[in-house]
Amino acid sequence: MKVEQDLHMSRGDGETSYAANSRLQEKAILKTKPLLHKAVEEVHASLSLSSPGKMVVADLGCSSGPNTLLVISEVLGAVANHCEQSLADVQFFLNDVPGNDFNLIFQSLELFKKLTTKELGEALPPYYIVGLPGSFYTRLFPDRSVHLFHSSYCLMWRSKVPDELARGAVVNVGNMYIWETTPPLVVELYQKQFQEDFSQFLALRHSELVSGGQMVLTFLGRKNRDVLRGEVSYIWGLLAQALQSLFQDGRVEEEKLDTFNLPFYSPSVDEVKTVVRQSELFDISHIQLFESNWDPQDEMDGSDADVTTPDSVRSGVNVARSIRAGSSPSSLVISASV
Ligand SMILES: C[S@@+](CC[C@H](N)C(=O)[O-])C[C@H]1O[C@@H](n2cnc3c(N)ncnc32)[C@H](O)[C@@H]1O
Repeated sequence: MKVEQDLHMSRGDGETSYAANSRLQEKAILKTKPLLHKAVEEVHASLSLSSPGKMVVADLGCSSGPNTLLVISEVLGAVANHCEQSLADVQFFLNDVPGNDFNLIFQSLELFKKLTTKELGEALPPYYIVGLPGSFYTRLFPDRSVHLFHSSYCLMWRSKVPDELARGAVVNVGNMYIWETTPPLVVELYQKQFQEDFSQFLALRHSELVSGGQMVLTFLGRKNRDVLRGEVSYIWGLLAQALQSLFQDGRVEEEKLDTFNLPFYSPSVDEVKTVVRQSELFDISHIQLFESNWDPQDEMDGSDADVTTPDSVRSGVNVARSIRAGSSPSSLVISASV
């Protein structure tokens, strides 16, 4: 699987699209809103030193639904409501892989502009929105040109499946990600891939950020210390079982079944802290693990979510739809600055 070419969320705005099934990710953006507002205020405070009158904001892994517009509207709201002196311009770059359905976002912009104008009125700063196709594991911007990086529900995707697994030199029989029967060597390969990718991401963004720049990153993490029993592993384990049943029906070849692995890793808080510290590039101002209900339509989160759901079949359909469109629970948020 070539991530840049093959990975994208379900396109369009139909029943099974990402746009119609990204409530889980929307809830994460709403939960991290205070951190985003704080980051905007801090960037604004340091603006006069870097490039007065212009704030450049990038949403990395924007996908194709309304969530990236929610991020833009939160940034504009923060500038309008919290920043004492108004800015001249805010420039937004919406980044995702080239296969992303950028058109769906562009088609929503006219309505979005009307809504933000109505909501913020005179306080609304002038703003510009452009699409930026490319992998965030490559350079996306010139040196020292971005003030704020935001990324939500993306950084658990790896740049590639670890080489040895992709070549079939090491096999993870019956699994598509790390689960109870995954050999220790396979776990190490996934962990190494995470460390390389995340270090690379930090180095790239560090070059692109202006002095005083900020990052707010939210991604699927792992609460359980045991890497073989991570919360997201459970979801991918269910999908691996579904794939097994296709194999038993003769609809998938055994070799394809055994060599299919996801370019994915959900790290623990400690694993994230270790890579950030080793990079010596960013100061972490806040890091936190928060839990989400697997059913995006169920408003009970964290420990409340353990209460038995009244309609388990409906809930199962909601969870399946959300996963099919591209997601899972248990997220990590990190806010960092240069
Ligand atoms: C679950 S979606 C999250 C989208 C959006 N941020 C939200 O909160 O709804 C993950 C997105 O990350 C993108 N993505 C994954 N790896 C990427 C990479 N290396 N470079 C750019 N985008 C990537 C995917 O294409 C997908 O659109």
